[in-house]
Amino acid sequence: MPTFIIDNKKITADKGTTILKAALDNGIKIPHFCYHEKLSIDGCCRMCLVEVEKMPKLTIACNTHVADDMVVHTHSPKVMKARAGVMEFQLINHPLDCPVCDQAGECRLQEYCFDYGVPHSRFREEKRKKRKRFSIGEHIVFDEERCILCRRCVRFCREVSKTGEVAVFNRGDRSYIGIYSGRGLNNKYSLCTTDICPVGALTSKDFRFKVRVWFLTETESICPECSNGCNIKICVRNNKIYRYLPRQNDNVNDTWMCNQGRLSYKNVHSDDRLTQPLIRSGDKQVPVKWDEALAIIAKGFKGRDGKVDGSHIGGIGSPHSTNEEGFLFRRFMRDAIGTNNIDFAVIKGYKDDMLIKEEKAANPGGAKDMTLWPSNGGHGISDMIGGISTGDVKILYIIGRDLMELEKSEKILDSLGNLDFLVVQDTHVSDLSRKADVVLPSATFAEKDGTFTNINGIVQRIRKAVDPPGDSLPDWEIISRLSKVMGYPMEYNSPEEIMDEIAKEIPAYKDVNYKGIGNQGFKVNSS
Ligand code: SF4
Ligand code: SF4
Ligand code: FES
Repeated sequence: MPTFIIDNKKITADKGTTILKAALDNGIKIPHFCYHEKLSIDGCCRMCLVEVEKMPKLTIACNTHVADDMVVHTHSPKVMKARAGVMEFQLINHPLDCPVCDQAGECRLQEYCFDYGVPHSRFREEKRKKRKRFSIGEHIVFDEERCILCRRCVRFCREVSKTGEVAVFNRGDRSYIGIYSGRGLNNKYSLCTTDICPVGALTSKDFRFKVRVWFLTETESICPECSNGCNIKICVRNNKIYRYLPRQNDNVNDTWMCNQGRLSYKNVHSDDRLTQPLIRSGDKQVPVKWDEALAIIAKGFKGRDGKVDGSHIGGIGSPHSTNEEGFLFRRFMRDAIGTNNIDFAVIKGYKDDMLIKEEKAANPGGAKDMTLWPSNGGHGISDMIGGISTGDVKILYIIGRDLMELEKSEKILDSLGNLDFLVVQDTHVSDLSRKADVVLPSATFAEKDGTFTNINGIVQRIRKAVDPPGDSLPDWEIISRLSKVMGYPMEYNSPEEIMDEIAKEIPAYKDVNYKGIGNQGFKVNSS
């Protein structure tokens, strides 16, 4: 491993490491536009020039490997002069429309101009005119004049999404970024190009001009849309989510996420959220307070004749609930209700070789680990549904609406009418919730703390970023309250306390605790 000196700091790095990577890993800032850790090296922007003693000229840090006894200066007078020159070239044809650019606050050109640029322009000629603000894909707007031709977007589409629709056309000062004819920048990860574009050339149609980025706070969490569990940041202003951004986790999603997951933030604030407990009154469902709804459920679980025992009650949990919630639900059904009829449904859909997984929920792995399935002769979902018409199943407690995406959902809906009592706990109104005797409004993943276990058995933290709407509560809190009303108290102050309980009971989770999970996850041997 070579040992060398950067800015008087002695550093050791693996053989083959570039000066730029070694510097960044050790907290030394070298400005760069075209370099991106997850893309091949291009070396075209020249912003990362550094001085290496005994080398005749400045060299680019992104494509020069470290060597024993190398001495590097990242901010010497020679380097600063060259950097100012690069900035001057970058800005010659740039439109300088920062006041109306939505990249402001996260633009490298602006940042480096402040740090390394010169305060005046010597350019007196006509600026090159290029096209402004036009759509190059379903989700993306391109401003050709702002593009600095760093080719990050080109490499992303070639190397990561492997769709190859973006290229540099023409040569010299006529060069421009374009899309091959007949195609759009429409791959399933296209919005990642707006993350990596270092300037305001590629922007998201969905996010642009909604909010200035410096007003946003960021909360680390996990995408809820499939079992890959991509790491994200939830960006919020005034209790409203404006966007999700991918967060680096090399074991899960590198630094990427798919468009569908990214745009799913809209579900959190949609108009069809359930906000109050509802009870059936004739053909209608009317809002009530939590205490009343829970008391009605405690009574309803005894059936119409007041004599139904646990073997005629079924519980269908959700792969969208956290591990902590799945654990409490299973315990509630098995111990408080006394049934082994427990299961959960997972919606399946499109998958690819990159990140997108077939299971369209964040936590089917955790639901399995928390043993949300029938045991000791209990019924699974299809037997529970079949048992409704034979009278074997009289009462159902269902979390989520994934059941409705299964085959024969119409038949399932019809058969639910034969139950003595139906409780549905969910985040949004659905055909299923409309059938319920009691509806309990629950919080989405963005409104609570907890953990999900992804498809590869990595347990990861979700964190509350916004308040749940109205009276809705996290599933764990609802189950805990209901359990108390039913004389089987499971009182916890936080999901972290429930995880401590899980660690005691489920062998694969014995070493799991919130501290150990951190922000990169903790691998367990999932079932
Ligand atoms: S559009 Fe952005 S990412 Fe693509 S080459 Fe231009 S500046 Fe770079
Ligand atoms: S791949 Fe899955 S987890 Fe990742 S962003 Fe897309 S939907 Fe979300
Ligand atoms: S970052 Fe090194 S040349 Fe662009």
